[in-house]
Amino acid sequence: MATLLNRAAQAAAGYLEGVRSRSVAPSAEAIAGLCALRGPLPPEPASPEAVFNLLHEFGSPATMAKTNGRFFGFVTGDCLPAALAASWLVSTWDQNAAHHAQSPVAAQLEQTAIEWVRELFGLPAGTGGAVVTGATMANFSGLAAARHALLERAGWDVEADGLFTALPVTVVVGEEVHQSVVKALGMLGLGRKRVVRVPVDGQGRMRADALPHLDSMTILCLQAGNVNTGAFDPAAAICPAARAAGAWIHVDGAFGLWAAASPEHRKLTKGFELADSWATDGHKWPNIGYDCGLVLVREPAILRATMSIQAAYLVHTEQRDPSNYGPELSRRARGVELWAGLRSLGQQGIAAIVERTVRHARRFAEGLRAAGFEVLNDVVINQVLVSFGTPEKTLRTIELLQAGGVCWCGSTVWQGRTAMRISVSSWATTSEDVELSLAAMFHAAARE
Ligand SMILES: Cc1ncc(COP(=O)(O)O)c(C=O)c1O
Repeated sequence: MATLLNRAAQAAAGYLEGVRSRSVAPSAEAIAGLCALRGPLPPEPASPEAVFNLLHEFGSPATMAKTNGRFFGFVTGDCLPAALAASWLVSTWDQNAAHHAQSPVAAQLEQTAIEWVRELFGLPAGTGGAVVTGATMANFSGLAAARHALLERAGWDVEADGLFTALPVTVVVGEEVHQSVVKALGMLGLGRKRVVRVPVDGQGRMRADALPHLDSMTILCLQAGNVNTGAFDPAAAICPAARAAGAWIHVDGAFGLWAAASPEHRKLTKGFELADSWATDGHKWPNIGYDCGLVLVREPAILRATMSIQAAYLVHTEQRDPSNYGPELSRRARGVELWAGLRSLGQQGIAAIVERTVRHARRFAEGLRAAGFEVLNDVVINQVLVSFGTPEKTLRTIELLQAGGVCWCGSTVWQGRTAMRISVSSWATTSEDVELSLAAMFHAAARE
């Protein structure tokens, strides 16, 4: 076992050393090489060394080099050294995080990490939550708690009796709601289409003056950090009246809520602390590695009533059992990586990642504007949208940029305009990476 693990450590270290100098996107040859991993399951066993070698030889080259500081696609964090090392240990421990009785360490570290995040976000004392796979499941869990609370007020036990013949719940979202919220609403039987959409401004922020009637049977979904522009809904203008009306306020803050950790950018998150539930990701801005999301609920008893699971064979103690707060029963002890990553950064380190990546995003915007390209958004955090001209020219520039291998950016359509997205979310991105990437963008745009 020790020989195998040493071999794995050596291969992983070699991968990390090489990843900075290789093309960000895998080559066509590397992707073609994946055929070595296909085919029927062989009848005979293979040695762990042989399997590992096969995986490293053909799998590693076919990865996206997203840990090299120059991957700017989607909203993709990296994996901090402490979180990576912790994930090796977590895999070695092979803990089931379902119950305190099955894994005291997993249960304890998860609870501590949740409390750290609550404090970083400035959320009310007593707020609790769960560690889930990502913001999609965090949105699902927060909205499940909302559904429970509203219907309970109306005298209906939705977990016991389902939704058929229950009183209708109205869900209000902004026009620029993230599709993961919409997907979660579909999974919860609240309907992907059965939502009231509030108009937004040019940055994608919900217009506070255009809100519909809200009452105690309404779930209002706000957004802290639009996936394209990074913009924040005006929570301070919306939440007091929404609370007074008895609506449940849910916040999708997959990455944006982490701005609260920075004294410089905290003001953007003002008002979101008035919500009832919050969804966020550890694998985006804090760079915890996949898969790591968090749901937080002002009254954790509601989350517990929504998610709890009992069976004679399951061992419950007086301690907090993670499976009573999230959608899964058995699962990886993913809170350990979250604990380790946050512990290694401390409050200052988290603020530093936020502030550094925002500075990099602003430099991208400034460099692109200076070169004559149109930046479509106000760069309030780490997201930049740029047009290189016509939709065709922008898409062709992105294609050439990705093929060039220096960095990787994706495309989007922002309020009718085709754009390239730059999301600076990695702790590892340096100023040199930004300048190299800007040069690659100019080169791609000139070649088009
Ligand atoms: C605002 C927002 N919400 C939700 C999500 C979904 O997150 P995940 O992919 O972790 O499920 C994203 C992903 O980028 C996002 O930006």
